[in-house]
Amino acid sequence: MTSSGTKTTKTTPLLFTPKKIRELTIRNRIIASPMCQYLSNDGGPNDWHMMHLGRLAIGGCGIVFGEETAVEPNGRKTHACAGLYNNNHVAAYRTLTDMIKRHGATPAIQLGHSGRKGSCHGAMEDWRPLDETDAANGLPPWQVMTPTAKISPPRPIPHKEMDQADINQVINDFRTATKLSIDAGYEIAEIHGAHGYLIHQFLSSTSNQRQDSYGGSLENRMRFAIEVASAVRDLWPKQHPVFFRLSAVDSQGGSWTLSEAVALAKALRDVGIDMIDVSSGGIAGKSNMPMVPRIPAYQASFSGRIRRQANVGTIAVGGITEAQQAEDILQSGDSDMIALARELMWNSDWPAHAAYVLGLDDPFSYLPDGYAHRLRQREEQKKMRINQDEALIEKSLRYFMDDEAPSPQ
Ligand SMILES: Cc1cc2nc3c(=O)[nH]c(=O)nc-3n(C[C@H](O)[C@H](O)[C@H](O)COP(=O)(O)O)c2cc1C
Repeated sequence: MTSSGTKTTKTTPLLFTPKKIRELTIRNRIIASPMCQYLSNDGGPNDWHMMHLGRLAIGGCGIVFGEETAVEPNGRKTHACAGLYNNNHVAAYRTLTDMIKRHGATPAIQLGHSGRKGSCHGAMEDWRPLDETDAANGLPPWQVMTPTAKISPPRPIPHKEMDQADINQVINDFRTATKLSIDAGYEIAEIHGAHGYLIHQFLSSTSNQRQDSYGGSLENRMRFAIEVASAVRDLWPKQHPVFFRLSAVDSQGGSWTLSEAVALAKALRDVGIDMIDVSSGGIAGKSNMPMVPRIPAYQASFSGRIRRQANVGTIAVGGITEAQQAEDILQSGDSDMIALARELMWNSDWPAHAAYVLGLDDPFSYLPDGYAHRLRQREEQKKMRINQDEALIEKSLRYFMDDEAPSPQ
């Protein structure tokens, strides 16, 4: 036992071993995963985002991700989604990154484009497509773009099938958003290539049936993803990392396989992507591919396969809730880092609590200094004789409760 009353371990757990990627050192291996809030104003953040991300930063995460942030207004899912496509947004995002850094975490942005999944309501309305009733209430639907329009789930306004000019424009939008993210102070950029959004729509043959150089073979279906990744990587500071979130498999009714994801990870590694964030699902079709079971750590084995076969760093995410479970994933070599989403909404100080559970000498050091000071004092108080000796406790309490009782001193 240490002075703080916790078990000591001879070696620091991997979860709390700082991670250096390029020139960036991250204080531990715990990532606050991107979490859409559907509460932005015209793409920009507000008080809510300060509080939401602030909880995660002061709770001890190594990296704090903002939610998926669209690279152009029509690339948002809803009117209330985050976006970074003009200079007016930069100052507001900078207040977030400054705050996250002040609390010892690394600020990260996830850049994305929703493609055919745009023009809808948020999660609480199960992403119901916007229609003319919504237009009457000030939330007009917009035309969404996708690789192959005729096989897309319908929207009230017919889809636009992307031509070469659209593809070039979206890649340019990623470039602009990348530059604005740098100005806003982000130190990690992640490209959202998962969950059935635009990049994933190109990757999966369930959503991509193009006849041109962006469809057909795996190499062709990966082309858009690689072009976006190269564009972002070329602009992002050399000393800072770029991540890519992919769906390792399509899940129910889809067609994208783990072997294809391994091939994509290799190609991304070759254009300088530093870390693959391994998720799954988002594109449904009519195949007999089953749903990915939602067991604890349900995507960690996909991460392990990609890490070993593509020889690239990975992040495990999905159903990770326990400190020892996270440590075991890292120790097994299934990933380099661990991301959590829902557990952090429930318990935003999870990293500090995990440090306690794993026996770090000073788990409170993951919380702000003022909190840590008081919590260390509480641990010390537990060990004082007056708080441990049953007879003394009883005599003391009797002294306070009964005017006639003698002092125990
Ligand atoms: C509220 C919420 C919003 C999410 N938004 C995003 C998002 O913006 N981008 C993304 O890639 N994943 C998003 N996800 C998925 C999470 O990042 C994470 O991969 C998933 O929830 C599995 O991790 P968990 O079991 O720790 O929650 C979201 C999840 C939640 C719960």
